[in-house]
This record gives sequence, structure tokens and C-alpha cells, in this order.
Amino acid sequence: MFRFALARTLRAPVVAAGRRQAVKMTVEAPLRPFSISSVLRHKHVEPPKPGEELHCTFISPDGEKTTLEVAAGDSLLDIAHEHDIDLEGACEGSLACSTCHVIVDPEYYEKMEEPGDEENDMLDLAFGLTETSRLGCQCIMSKEFDGITVTLPSATRNMSFQK
Ligand code: FES
Repeated sequence: MFRFALARTLRAPVVAAGRRQAVKMTVEAPLRPFSISSVLRHKHVEPPKPGEELHCTFISPDGEKTTLEVAAGDSLLDIAHEHDIDLEGACEGSLACSTCHVIVDPEYYEKMEEPGDEENDMLDLAFGLTETSRLGCQCIMSKEFDGITVTLPSATRNMSFQK
């Protein structure tokens, strides 16, 4: 974390000796520190380290399979984007859309934790919802999901409106 302080100079007209007089006066505002955090690793997908490769397979709506070697900790959405898989992710993983909807193989769906309320709310808006639907941005690769297969729905529902 880095800390910086800003000095702010204000200039204001004042009334001096009972006469209106435009006098420039500099006021030093108290230093107010602020901090920034390092840039987050947003959407950054690292290749897996040798010996730590996990595998996931995306099946497109027309049945084309793409199997990838991936690292633990990456979301299916980020993996899809990194490898040009057609998974939209309009809100970039902030649980504000359902365009990252994937249909998870039942074998792996059973291993996942239940979706939270926010994810369920967005899944309710997903096109072609199934019993094993999840949001790809919430599916994080780990050893227990090695070999996971997800199918992309034939359409997504994007609730944003354009003029
Ligand atoms: S990208 Fe919007 S909820 Fe996953």
C-alpha cells in the first residue's frame, strides 16, 4: 500500500480594512492522506505450473468441445475469455447479469457449494436455466473440479438496454 498526501491551495477574495478589495489569499488546506491498493489481478489468467495442471472442457451450443489446461484459482469466465470461448460475462463477474451462465456436468455440480442468494437471483434471469446451471464467474477451478465439463447455453439474456 502506498500513502500519498495532497496539498490543496484555495484562492478566495476577501474584504480588507472595511473596503471591498479583491485580495488574493492562499489558504493551505490541511494535508489529507489517502491510500491506494496495488492493482488487482482482475481477469489475469496464469498458465498452470508444471505438474499442477487442471483440466476443464467447454462445450459450445453446437457441440464443439474445447479442453484446456488451467490453473487453480481462475474462474471459468476468466478462463473462457483468455481462450476466446464465447462466454459473454457482461458485468465482468460482479454478479449483475446472467450472461456467464453455464450448464455444469451433474457429476461436478454435486461437488460445488450451493449458489448464494445473489447468484441465484441472477440465475433466475438466465436463458435456458437447468438444474445444474451456474454462473461461470462464480465457478473457481480447484483440484476437486479437475476435469469439469460445462456446456454453454444457446443464448443469453442481457438485461442492459441500448438507445
Ligand atoms: S459475468 Fe455477470 S454475473 Fe457473471
